[in-house]
Amino acid sequence: MKNILFASSECVPFIKTGGLADVVGSLPKDFDKEKYDCRVVLPKYMCMKQEWVERLEYITNFYMDFAGEDRYVGIFKTELNGVTFYFIDNEFYFSGFAPYDGDPKWNIEKFSFFCKAVLSILPVIGFRPDLIHCHDWQTGLIPVYLDNFRFFGEYYRGIKTVMTIHNLKFQGVWDTKTVQGITGLPDYYFVPDKLEAYKDANMLKGGIVYADKVTTVSHSYAEEIKTPFYGEGLDGLMAARSNDLCGIVNGLDYNDWNPDTDHRIAKTFNVENFRKNKPVNKAALQEELGLDKDNHVMLIGIVSRLTDQKGFDLIDYMMDEMCQDAVQIAVLGTGDPKYENMFRHFAWKYAGKVSANIFYSDDLSHRLYAGCDAFLMPSLFEPCGLSQLMSLRYGTLPIVRETGGLKDTVEPYNEFEKTGTGFSFSNYNAHEMLNTVRYAERIYYDKKRDWNKMIERAMAQDFSWMNSARQYEDLYRSLIGE
Ligand code: ADP
Ligand code: GLC
Repeated sequence: MKNILFASSECVPFIKTGGLADVVGSLPKDFDKEKYDCRVVLPKYMCMKQEWVERLEYITNFYMDFAGEDRYVGIFKTELNGVTFYFIDNEFYFSGFAPYDGDPKWNIEKFSFFCKAVLSILPVIGFRPDLIHCHDWQTGLIPVYLDNFRFFGEYYRGIKTVMTIHNLKFQGVWDTKTVQGITGLPDYYFVPDKLEAYKDANMLKGGIVYADKVTTVSHSYAEEIKTPFYGEGLDGLMAARSNDLCGIVNGLDYNDWNPDTDHRIAKTFNVENFRKNKPVNKAALQEELGLDKDNHVMLIGIVSRLTDQKGFDLIDYMMDEMCQDAVQIAVLGTGDPKYENMFRHFAWKYAGKVSANIFYSDDLSHRLYAGCDAFLMPSLFEPCGLSQLMSLRYGTLPIVRETGGLKDTVEPYNEFEKTGTGFSFSNYNAHEMLNTVRYAERIYYDKKRDWNKMIERAMAQDFSWMNSARQYEDLYRSLIGE
C-alpha cells in the first residue's frame, strides 16, 4: 500500500472557485483502494459552508516557526466517500471571505504558511506519504520546503513530489526579499535556477524546479506551455523539464454530473430519452431566467469565471451581431467587473433574449448544462476545462476554440463524415468565433437529425476519471514503485 497526499487550496465539496476544486475533490476517489491510500490536505477556511465546518473533527495543535513568529497550526479531519481530508487551521491566515482575497502579497504569505504547515503536520498525524501531489502555485513551496527539511532529519528523506499545473498564469510572484523574509528559506534558494524568475521570487517555479515530476491537465497544454505565447514567462523552464513533464487530461465525477440521476434539474434524461426530456429542462430554464419561452430557439449557455482567459473579449465584440440571430444566451459567472457589467448591459439591452446571472451557484450551473442547446467557451487558453466536459455529458454541444484541453476533448463536427461532438475554431479572432456560432446555428435549425446524432455521440463520450486515474497511478509507480 502506498500513501499519497494531495495538497490543494480548493476541493469540492468544501471550497470551490474553479475546476481545480472539482479535480481535487473527485480524483482521489478513483485510485485503486487496494494499492493507494490517498488523502487530501486543505486550509481550514472560515468561509467554508457551515455544514462542512460542523463535520470536522479537531485532532490537535502545535506551534510552528513562520514569518518570524511562532504560529498556531491546528489540525482537523473528516472522512467523505472513503477519503480522509485534513484541514490546517489558523484564523490569522484563513479567515477571509474567499480563499484568495486581499492583496497578492497576503495570498503569498498565507499559502507559504500552508506549504510549511503541510509538511510540519505529517509526523503529528501519523501519515507519512510516499508521495505528495501538489496542485498549482499555492502549493509550489512544498517541494522546496521538502528539500530544505531533508537537511534536518530522516523523516522527510525519500518523500517524492508531483507538481500539477492547472493554470500557468498564476504563479505566486513577489519581490525576493519579502518572500525570503516570509518563508525563512535560505539565500541558496533565491537564485535564477531555483525560485527566482525575472528577479522576483516565484512559488510555482520553485515547485516546478523541485518536484520529481510535473504534470498539467491536457496533452495540448503540456505542449503549448513550452512556447512563449502560452508559457507565461516559464516556457524555457517547461522545455528544460520536458522529460519530466506530461499532460493527463482531467475527468469528471460521473456521479455528481449525471443527467440521468441529477436531482437539481427539472427532468432527468439520458442518451435514449433526451429528445423528449431535455426540452423540459430548457423550458424550465427559460422560465427561471426570464427568457422568452420558446422551445424552438437555440439557447447558448456560458458558465465561467469571468476573466480574460475565457475569451470574453471575443464575445463582447460580437454580442450585438449574435443577438441579431435567432438565439438566446444565458450566462452564469462572476469575476472581472468589466465582464460582469458587459453581460448586465446586454441582458438589459436584449431583455428576454440574454440572461446575465452574475453570481455563483452550483445548482443553477447544473440546470444550465442540462437546459441549453449549446455551450460557448472561446478561451484564449485553457489548460483543460471542465465546463465543456459537463456540457458534453448533458448533451449540450460545446462551441470552443481549439486550444489546450478544449482541443483534446471536443471533436469538431464533420458534416460529410457525420462525426464530431461539437464545434471549434482555431484562431483567437472574433469573426472566426461568430462564423462558428453561426455554423452551429445552421446545423441546429436545418439539420436537426445531425444535431441530435451529435448529442448522442457527445453523451456517449467517457470523461470519467477511469482512464486518467490509471495514468496518475502509472506516474506514481514510476516514482515510488508498487
Ligand atoms: P476554470 O477552472 O478555469 O475556472 P473549468 O472549466 O476547469 O475552468 O472549471 C470551472 C468550474 O467552475 C466548473 O465546474 C464550472 O461549472 C464552475 N463554475 C464557474 N463559474 C461558476 C458559477 N458562477 N457558478 C457555478 N459554477 C461555476
Ligand atoms: C484551471 C484551468 C482549467 C482546468 C482546471 C482544473 O483552473 O483554468 O482549464 O480545467 O484548472 O484542472
